Amino acid sequence: MANYYINAAVKKSKINKEIYGHFSEHLGRCIYEGIYVGENSDIPNVNGMRCDVVEALKEIRVPVLRWPGGCFADEYHWKDGIGPKESRKKMINTHWGGVVEDNSFGTHEYMELCRQLGCETYVNGNLGSGTVQEMSEWVEYMTFEGVSPMADLRAKNGHPEAWKVDFFGVGNENWGCGGNMTPEFYANEYRRYQTYVRQYHAGNGMEQGIDNPSYIRRIACGPNVADTEWTEGVMKTLFRHCEARMHGNADGLSLHYYTHPEGWEIKGSATDFDEKTWYKTLAKTLYMEELIRMHSAIMDQYDPKKKLGLIVDEWGTWYTVEPGTNPGFLYQQNTMRDALVACLNLNIFNKHSDRVKMAAIAQMVNVLQSVILTEGPQMVKTPTWHVFDLFKEHQDAQLVESRIETEMIGEEEEWMVPNLSESASVSADGKLQITLGNLSVTEDYPVSTQITGYAGRKVSARILTGAMRDKNTFEAPDTVASREFELTIGNGNLEFTIPACSVLHITVEE
Ligand code: AHR
Repeated sequence: MANYYINAAVKKSKINKEIYGHFSEHLGRCIYEGIYVGENSDIPNVNGMRCDVVEALKEIRVPVLRWPGGCFADEYHWKDGIGPKESRKKMINTHWGGVVEDNSFGTHEYMELCRQLGCETYVNGNLGSGTVQEMSEWVEYMTFEGVSPMADLRAKNGHPEAWKVDFFGVGNENWGCGGNMTPEFYANEYRRYQTYVRQYHAGNGMEQGIDNPSYIRRIACGPNVADTEWTEGVMKTLFRHCEARMHGNADGLSLHYYTHPEGWEIKGSATDFDEKTWYKTLAKTLYMEELIRMHSAIMDQYDPKKKLGLIVDEWGTWYTVEPGTNPGFLYQQNTMRDALVACLNLNIFNKHSDRVKMAAIAQMVNVLQSVILTEGPQMVKTPTWHVFDLFKEHQDAQLVESRIETEMIGEEEEWMVPNLSESASVSADGKLQITLGNLSVTEDYPVSTQITGYAGRKVSARILTGAMRDKNTFEAPDTVASREFELTIGNGNLEFTIPACSVLHITVEE
């Protein structure tokens, strides 16, 4: 029996809804086909956006969407993507698949997508190959309301009102595809570029920082995986001579970490794997927690008040592409293994929400660990979609103290994992929200909760469970789907058995 302690009286950090964010890049069939089919498509759409996909994304309450890349961002010249579609420049997407990018999805279309989703905007600027002027003008084009060349151009292109840019990334992976820079060089460039990310709407009153929604929050490029030298170098340079601006001129620092079960070179199949690989994948996912701790420790030295968020804006599984598909499109299937990967990462982000202020799964549709797959007019919700659905009540909830007794399981010494993963919060409506994962392929575990600081009287739950390789296909779209899970409450506590290979969401009400 695993004892599970929850103390709802001990309130910890707020779980920013942005932790449940998504990433969409001009890569493969993510934007084109997956989301945007154009106004003239036979696939039902509103202003070019697929109705089925938008509906499914609204169901999981996508809070924020990062765009246009990724590596694509540092090659993207935003003026190519505005104005009449027929005269927009065509180019080759050299990073991803060598296909023609016709720029029919640009700034106006992205803003329209976010409007339909009802989500915040996170635009990633081009520092690698763009100019300061170009970045500055993009911000002016999107957010300036008065008389100016860029505001006039926006009006001429059909949108007189300014948009709200909630987050702005100043470059992407500038240690690699974004210019192969050193940390100090990047951070100096960052300081210069961000100066011209003008705050036309900045309110005052609230202290600046990642949690202040009244201005554009600037995200600096952070480390790849465990590159602490990058974190140290960037933080040091950002905070040098900036006493007047206490946050080192930035509001967030990104972190990218993907789960590659067999390493970067081999990666491994999305659907054809054994139990050893299952545990290895989950063990590698759990490394996320160590990464957050190590980079947070460096950030704490410069920013003890945690005004600067750690932004995990690329996470998820990265496998070998599906047989017969363009290797540059990064299209992969999604199984119960991905569901557990999502569950682990989201529970980790919740637990570290004092520092992790935003995250984005890579990527939203048809690329890497997608929540949705499409084929022509068909669409399926992946097991990962269902996990986002089960976790959505944590958005903007208050993390509370919790701990579960675990045992180590697995097949190989090197890749052992704890059998259970959890986090708990109290949402704005006063309900206690609990999410649990059972990492075992074979074993069910009885769990006994000891809840203090909360007089629970009513309980409901949903579960996602199946065999480890279960997936949803266009022929069988509901093989993996959540269903009601029966459990009762006695003296405010719960006793239940969590089945092998499952993700569970429990709501307790007073
Ligand atoms: O998500 C795919 C790619 O992975 C992104 O373009 C890049 O930022 C990362 O290396």
